[in-house]
Parts: sequence; structure tokens; C-alpha cells
Amino acid sequence: MDDFIARLPKAELHLHIEGTLEPELALRLAEKNQIDFPYQTVEQMQAAFDFTDLQSFLDLYYASIGVVRTEEDFHDLTLAYLKKAASQNVRHTEIFFDPQSHTDRGIPFETVLKGITSALKQGQTELGISSQLILSFLRHLSAESAMETLQQALPFRDQIIGVGLDSSELGHPPSKFVNVFAEARRHGFRVVCHAGEEGPPEYITEALDLLHAERIDHGVRCMEDADLITRLANEQIPLTVCPLSNVRLCVFKTMSEHPLKRMLDAGLLVTVNSDDPPYFSGYVNENFAAVQKALNLSQDDLKTLAQNSFEASFLSKDKKQSLKSL
Ligand code: HPA
Ligand code: ZN
Repeated sequence: MDDFIARLPKAELHLHIEGTLEPELALRLAEKNQIDFPYQTVEQMQAAFDFTDLQSFLDLYYASIGVVRTEEDFHDLTLAYLKKAASQNVRHTEIFFDPQSHTDRGIPFETVLKGITSALKQGQTELGISSQLILSFLRHLSAESAMETLQQALPFRDQIIGVGLDSSELGHPPSKFVNVFAEARRHGFRVVCHAGEEGPPEYITEALDLLHAERIDHGVRCMEDADLITRLANEQIPLTVCPLSNVRLCVFKTMSEHPLKRMLDAGLLVTVNSDDPPYFSGYVNENFAAVQKALNLSQDDLKTLAQNSFEASFLSKDKKQSLKSL
């Protein structure tokens, strides 16, 4: 099965570039940038990857990204992820970046964007992996801060395909960001939104009705609302599910309790993704392998998940077809 998974052509649609920071790179950048970092070894840092909920992870995620400072650092971070993804037969990836987690520590928006996009170009030419970039607003910050961030992105409109919403979900519903997303849509950005990870099913409905999200990130708590399941299935709204993340952040106690198989059986357009791979011990293939084992997925289920990943992407019809069948 692991070989079958490795050979499947896949797209990855839920991946935070800040969350791809491997401990080795974090330690190297901390030393280079002379940043006081609480960990001296890979093992020490990995020992901190013991999360109780989303917030306990986010605290470490924001602290660790402090070592990434220069355009070259952002380039190295992104290229390392692309190499790993390409090695797992990921042919297309739609990557989130959180500009506020950098601009708030004095790094210009342009530095972040240039570092990431130069690596994306190199990924396309040298690794053959296609990619898009999605700007994600931090929902624990104000709507005004999100609006300022959107303004900073406008000169680079052609390099960013869409906008999303991440960070601490509970207490920060999609409705907080209605104006920002309306403005983003006015400028032609595609819309996705993290919802129904820790937050209730109502946040998924808000993301669809108020933000006009075309795709829901996580969305696993839709399974608590039969009418919402019917709607998501009828409208074929893609859900970018991250199984290892869900278990490591205690959304589900064990992988055998994960609803992915039930979601497939309910006719939902689900995809499998890695979210923040080093923190949750797995890139996309390890996520596929973990759900396959725990939920006894068939080769047909795995094929459906891989096909869904292209279907749910923002690629053109032609490009979807050609990447799927390469
Ligand atoms: N949820 C919310 N915020 C995040 C995540 C996530 O899965 N990953 C990185 N920031
Ligand atoms: Zn996420």
C-alpha cells in the first residue's frame, strides 16, 4: 500500500509554509541570524511537539518562525518543502503564507513574498512541481489588521491566487472578517477558509454564506450536522482534511476515530493534506498511509482522494487533467 500511495500523483491544498520548518533548518537559521532559540538540538525541539489543542501548537509555531528573517531564509524554507513534496509525487501545491506573522516582527511583506515566489519558480523549473500561493489572515488579530495586510498584497495581486483564514478558531468566527473578504473578492482573489477544525459546524456555514468560501480547510466538524453534510455533498464543496494534524491537535483521540472514511462515504469532496508536516510527523504520503491503515481504505478510496485533490484545486480544467494523468 505504501508503494501504491507513493506512486499516486497528488495535489496538496492545505499546507502552511511557516509550518514546514524542519528542526534542522530552524537550528541553522537561529544560529545564522543570532536568535536566542530555546532548543539546541533537533531532539529537544521535537520533544516540544506534544500538543494538547490548536493553541498549544500555534504558540510554538509562531515562536519558531521567529528564526526565519531574510528573503533567502524564506526561499530556503519554501524550496525544502517543494523538494520533499516533489519526492512524494505531489505535482501541484497550493501553499498558505501568514504575512502578519512576519510583518508584525518588522519584516517587509515584499521580503517574504520574494523569498517564497523565487523558490516556487525554481520548484517549477527544476522539480516540475506547479504551485499557487494563498495569503492567510490571522483570525486572532483584528479585521483592521487583515484589511491592512490585504492592501499590502494588492501590488502583488498577480502572484497570489487567493485568501484564507487561519490561527485560533474558537471565538474568531468567519463573520469577523466579512468586509475583508468582500474586498478581497472585489479584487478577484479566490476564497478559502479554515472552519470546523476546533470550531462548530456553524463556522463552516458562515464561511460559505458570509465569506463565500469556495473550499473549506479542515471542515471535519461538519459531521455533527446532517443538513450541512447534505449541503456540502450537493454543492461538492471541497474539504481539505489533515488527518495527522487532527489527531496530534486532539480534534480526534485516535486515527481510528477520524471521520475521513465516513466523509468519503457521505459523498463529500474530501482531500488529504499535511498542514504543518514536521510538527505532526508527516508529509502528504504519511497522512495517506496513516488513514489507510487506521480506516482500512481501499486502493479505490486512495485513488478517489488523489483525484479529488486535483479536482478541488484552483488549476484550470486542462491543467487538472494533464497533471492527474502524468
Ligand atoms: N489551523 C489553524 N491555524 C493554523 C493551522 C491550522 O491547522 N496551521 C497553521 N496555522
Ligand atoms: Zn491549516
